[in-house]
Amino acid sequence: MAERPAALRITGGRKLRGKITVSGSKNSALPCLFASLLTDGQCQWRRVPRLSDVETALAILQRLGKSIDWRAGTLSAGKAARSGTLNPDQARSMRASILALGPLLAIGKKVILPLPGGCDIGSRPIAVHLAGLEKLGVTICISGGFVKAAPPKRLRAAHIVLDAPSVTGTENLIMAATLARGNTVIENCACEPEIVDLSRMLEAMGARIEGAGTATVTIEGVTALGGCRHLIMADRIEAGTYLAAVAAAGGSVELLKADASVLGAFLAKLEEMGVAIEAKPGSIRAKASGRPIATGFETAPYPGFPTDLQAQLMAVNCIARGKAAIVERIFERRFRHADELALLGADIRLRGNQALVTGAAKLQGARTEATDLRASASLVIAALAASGDTVIGGLHHLERGYEQLPRKLRSIGAQIRRVRLPYC
Ligand code: EPU
Repeated sequence: MAERPAALRITGGRKLRGKITVSGSKNSALPCLFASLLTDGQCQWRRVPRLSDVETALAILQRLGKSIDWRAGTLSAGKAARSGTLNPDQARSMRASILALGPLLAIGKKVILPLPGGCDIGSRPIAVHLAGLEKLGVTICISGGFVKAAPPKRLRAAHIVLDAPSVTGTENLIMAATLARGNTVIENCACEPEIVDLSRMLEAMGARIEGAGTATVTIEGVTALGGCRHLIMADRIEAGTYLAAVAAAGGSVELLKADASVLGAFLAKLEEMGVAIEAKPGSIRAKASGRPIATGFETAPYPGFPTDLQAQLMAVNCIARGKAAIVERIFERRFRHADELALLGADIRLRGNQALVTGAAKLQGARTEATDLRASASLVIAALAASGDTVIGGLHHLERGYEQLPRKLRSIGAQIRRVRLPYC
């Protein structure tokens, strides 16, 4: 008999108190894992989060010929990749599989990869990745829904100006350029901290990179890269999600291993909402009491307000005093959580890429369905602040990106458990 789908059941209205340790970053771990394709040496990582997206990345690497070993908190990948053909079903199940492209081409493999389509948060083109790789000498052909990419014997350095500062596009091109002949300059790069973390790992493998985390990155190609040890950076989006939960539910929580320096725009908004933030090296404490103050914001590339925290701060605004205008500038369809938040009594009006939220004095628990990863997180936050029970279906979305979320929230006093649907 097929397993019944998993859901979360949350009884809201409890204040959150205690400490949570932040996990390693999903969006840093994924490119770092694919970077191991650049070498047949042993790569070892600590603080890799146990998430379904990470499991998918590991399955893809194994299919390509890498050996994987994960024990006692250390994940290792060894051996050379045998092939460049990705299993289409595995690749389609995770957009970030596009990150295999740059490294495989850099080691001279022909790559066949299904073209990623649109997704739940909007159209997500890969033109930036492909145009940059063509500049490095790769021949690209798209047919039958697949990208077929053939590299020359060795990639050639180039001057590349990205049409848009794509995060994974920047990562793919930096990885590809590490083994190219000559100096590559990439302009209009994304500046997200995960790119800096990936570059630290590549440097530990022997790559020569300057400017990671700025709009212009220069890579001096080397002939070979070796193994490395790398500690994955803490997940800034996970940290922001728990801070938003405190803002909505009230209480006082300290996040351990959290880095306030990469959360500036988000923390500034929480403070405007009346949350007291105390940041120290390796820790962020948030204290909140009473209803937050409604505060609008616009998403933007780093160091602006992250799109990956838009849904969570919208949830906080749903119970705030006043009205907030939220503008989504990165992904045009990233408002699907609004309809689900409305089931709890939230008042959200959508017009194009803008949402006008009027805070309600009270939300009431309801049966909801998550539509994507960060939308799930927004429902959890609203449910923690609501009275009564909320059931959130579509738990697989949440499990793509949050390690042990129910256990972590229980440890700070939330009433939350995993259930099977239908739940009565
Ligand atoms: N864009 C283009 N052309 C391209 C590529 C992107 O115009 O060829 C545009 C997109 O349409 C979008 C913007 O650039 O408007 C940003 O897209 P980007 O390519 O940077 O997104 P991504 O690299 O596919 C990563 C994260 C996302 C995060 C975005 C934006 C990973 C694995 N994924 O995606 O994370 O939302 O950057 O910060 O790093 C999540 O964790 O929930 C998530 C979706």
